[in-house]
Amino acid sequence: MFNFIVRLTRNIIYFEQFLFLITYFSLKMNHEIDRDLLLKEARKALENAYSKYSKFKVGAALLTKEGEIYTGCNIENLSYGLTICAERVAFFKAVSENKRNFVAIAITSSGNEPTFPCGACRQVLSEFHQNIEIFVDKDPKTYRISELIPYSFSEKSLGN
Ligand code: THU
Repeated sequence: MFNFIVRLTRNIIYFEQFLFLITYFSLKMNHEIDRDLLLKEARKALENAYSKYSKFKVGAALLTKEGEIYTGCNIENLSYGLTICAERVAFFKAVSENKRNFVAIAITSSGNEPTFPCGACRQVLSEFHQNIEIFVDKDPKTYRISELIPYSFSEKSLGN
């Protein structure tokens, strides 16, 4: 009887370790799939960039909590200051369709170096207080929005 209980306990522990490994690797794999898939979508979106003046193309793909992807590209204007970045186009497209929960964004560009979101886009991406993941093409690190804009303009500043 005692031996049986010892064996049973050992088997339960093995089983728990097995479940832990399965969960760990599936989460890790899903994470990698998200990055690759999002970057692929961002590269497709880059093709639509309207960057007549800078000749610099940017593409972004924003992932919602529900798993949908909203893409954007930079859209320039003859009145240069009216240009809008790819990240904000993706974000505004999603918000205009009533999406409010985001988990990650991938950014790519026609440049040879990694393209990080500009300050204005960082502020916009922090709007819903979600610490979303940022995947920057040509840079293997995963960034967090809180890390890219640690002192964002917040409700606190408004005294709310
Ligand atoms: N651009 C983006 O689309 N995203 C950024 O985060 C940085 C800059 C665009 C704006 C403009 O069309 C071009 O890149 C050059 O500044």
